[in-house]
Amino acid sequence: MTRTIGVELGARRYDISVGSGVLGGAATPLAGRARAAVVSQQNIADLYAEPLLAALHAAGTAAALFLMGDGEEAKSLPTVESLCRQFAAWGLLRGDAVVALGGGVVGDTAGFTAAAYHRGVACLQAPTTLLAQVDAAIGGKTGVNLPEGKNLVGAFHQPLAVLCDVDTLSTLADREYRAGLGEVAKYAFMGDAELSATLADETAAAALLARDPAVLTDVVARSAAIKAAVVSADEHERTGLRATLNYGHTLAHALETLGHYGLLHGEAVSVGLVFATELAAALDRLPAEAPDATRAMLARFGLPTAAPDGVAAADLVTLMRRDKKAAGGLTFVLPAAGGGPLERVDDPPAAALERAFEKVGVAV
Ligand SMILES: NC(=O)c1ccc[n+]([C@@H]2O[C@H](COP(=O)([O-])OP(=O)(O)OC[C@H]3O[C@@H](n4cnc5c(N)ncnc54)[C@H](O)[C@@H]3O)[C@@H](O)[C@H]2O)c1
Repeated sequence: MTRTIGVELGARRYDISVGSGVLGGAATPLAGRARAAVVSQQNIADLYAEPLLAALHAAGTAAALFLMGDGEEAKSLPTVESLCRQFAAWGLLRGDAVVALGGGVVGDTAGFTAAAYHRGVACLQAPTTLLAQVDAAIGGKTGVNLPEGKNLVGAFHQPLAVLCDVDTLSTLADREYRAGLGEVAKYAFMGDAELSATLADETAAAALLARDPAVLTDVVARSAAIKAAVVSADEHERTGLRATLNYGHTLAHALETLGHYGLLHGEAVSVGLVFATELAAALDRLPAEAPDATRAMLARFGLPTAAPDGVAAADLVTLMRRDKKAAGGLTFVLPAAGGGPLERVDDPPAAALERAFEKVGVAV
């Protein structure tokens, strides 16, 4: 069964479709467009491009495949230039569309290229990783890296539609899949009781680990709905609501920036969620038993619940102060007292911070 979630943006709206085989319906949101430039990576294209191109051709949209490289290095301005030049040579025009078929790297790069090419052509997001289906492909943030830092050049460019085909997740590497569950766990803490129940239930969690399409459809749809609601209410990150999506991310970003520990984003988020729960418990915002429940749930998905050996609190604090949302202080997103909705918390007391660091194995 397909689930549809609307992202409402004032006068505009778009749909996120979640389910088995939804990629087969890609022609519908592209109806009336003469051309579609499908951007992907070789390994993903080998698996999923052919039926997609065939469906578009059958519906009267001329479609061609444009490949980009793998990894953060390929999410770059040289890739954007190369894609734009290939689009121009192929004859892609303002009224045509780009289709991003891949994970967050493809989605961010193709989305930004679509935002810039001809001052903006439509972009259909077809995310193929769990992380991209529940997060990166939704909300219109697009961009590429510079040698000086990640995501430093970008634009808001809302997609035409988002097609989350859960069948594509069957070929995702195990570690990538589990890392995506770290981001899903974040949504559970953001207040979806049924999502929390699914993750806490051994049978449902086992089905999720086995990538059961029905359970995945429910979990991806619930996660996407939370992101969609936040994006609908705060499209351009102006009210602070969108910052609540950063639950667990303050520490996660610092761990990722330390980089040489090689954590995937969702793995760093997992450690960050334990840290945030510990910090919230130390500040009496959550009950004392909450951190252990969080640890148990994340461990069930094979996700790390402590920082790698050798990480020092002083290095993390320096990096967390540099976070673009922190303006020199230390900013966290934590539940309100009594486990209420998430809110921004600036500069928590040092004793609570130290305790939370110790609980995730970071020497203070
Ligand atoms: N725009 C946003 O709001 C937003 C939010 C979160 C993350 N991001 C960005 O997303 C990126 C990370 O995305 P990601 O985790 O999807 O990584 P990714 O795009 O690098 O994909 C991970 C790997 O999986 C492969 N792959 C993708 N789909 C596959 C499939 N179905 N089967 C087999 N292999 C497949 C890819 O080729 C790649 O090697 C980062 O650059 C991050 O900055 C953006």
